[in-house]
Amino acid sequence: MKKNHQTFANRTAHLEPEGAYEVLARAQKMEADGREIIHLEIGQPDFRTFPNIGIEGIRAIAAGETRYTPSAGIPALRKAIADSTGARIGMEFSPRQVVVGPGAKPLLFFPMMALLEPGDEVIYPDPGFPSYRAIIETMGAVPVPIPLKEEKDFSFDMEEFGRKVNDRTRLIIINPPSNPTGGIIPGADILTLAEAAKKFDCWVLSDDIYTQLVYTDEPMKNIMTIPGMKERTIIMDGFSKTYAMTGWRLGYGVMPEELADIVGLLLTHSVGCTAAFTQVAGIEALTGDQEQVAAIRRIFRSRRDVIVKGLNDIPGITCRLPKGAFYVFPNIKSFGKSSKEMANYLLEEAGVALLPGTSFGPMGEGYLRLTFTNSSEAIEKALALIKEALFKLRKK
Ligand SMILES: Cc1ncc(COP(=O)(O)O)c(C=O)c1O
Repeated sequence: MKKNHQTFANRTAHLEPEGAYEVLARAQKMEADGREIIHLEIGQPDFRTFPNIGIEGIRAIAAGETRYTPSAGIPALRKAIADSTGARIGMEFSPRQVVVGPGAKPLLFFPMMALLEPGDEVIYPDPGFPSYRAIIETMGAVPVPIPLKEEKDFSFDMEEFGRKVNDRTRLIIINPPSNPTGGIIPGADILTLAEAAKKFDCWVLSDDIYTQLVYTDEPMKNIMTIPGMKERTIIMDGFSKTYAMTGWRLGYGVMPEELADIVGLLLTHSVGCTAAFTQVAGIEALTGDQEQVAAIRRIFRSRRDVIVKGLNDIPGITCRLPKGAFYVFPNIKSFGKSSKEMANYLLEEAGVALLPGTSFGPMGEGYLRLTFTNSSEAIEKALALIKEALFKLRKK
């Protein structure tokens, strides 16, 4: 039967907006109506891009670095990424293993497009970054969520993992430290995941976007460093969070050369390439002063301590100390309401915008996600408003 011109391809039928953008739109509407709202919903640093990076981007535009570049990125940036990722995880990479894209998200999308056939199974964390499931389904692959367990500091439920991984598993996605929980994966679990990837001959995608925002001295082992893993691991990373560059759109992947070549071709035939001056600014980000990264890490860490203490002081809420990223994921189960009801109530009653845990998957039920990408003063004020609103709710 011929389709009506407004019947869209099946592969888009499951797509939904990201929860954070929906809540932001509602909060902005309330602000337009005169309400004061404290924003703890959007996952982007509240700092400006560091000055040396901004100035380098402006210089590059003025110098005429405004043309097409090679699809996989300009050689100097690919080399800087190979060197910095190599130094971070203790391995050596060639620039040919690096693919640059407009944001980190394309380095989730295109490697999955290159690897997944319809029916392949993909293991990913629930709660987890919403784009994982959206991309898996877009490729016609089968999403296999593995719960993150609060009592394990939001690391994978490894028993469930053991039951779900099998011959049909093509890819395992991990995200330490994670959005939305801030949890990291213990070294022993990383080893188990790697063993399973080798046994079932599948790939691992390690979303490393928050690895520079870690607040513990515990060593974090990158799964790619485990023997037998470098030929089956993709590291996805980017500039958005570490260098406060969300709007520049600059990210990258590090992967085996054969896969990098295919991902480069997918970029050629989709976006073409990443903006030239953005890439030049990226070189400055990686090779310039890193003390600024350490400074924002210290600020995030002290805000984390403020928000975790404040949440635990509210009767009915318990909140673990996240080891990284800029999110807290408090447990609100004692209120007997859904996460969505609680998030709506706190927006309306307290004027605090935050997200229901279910924006990140069904296992997020009973939790909220708050970001600490706002000043300590704003966080303290939000905590007082939340406390007051929840006190009223208990009395109802
Ligand atoms: C876990 C995770 N991965 C990837 C991304 C995408 O980063 P980018 O904005 O550079 O595309 C984000 C952004 O929120 C994220 O939280």
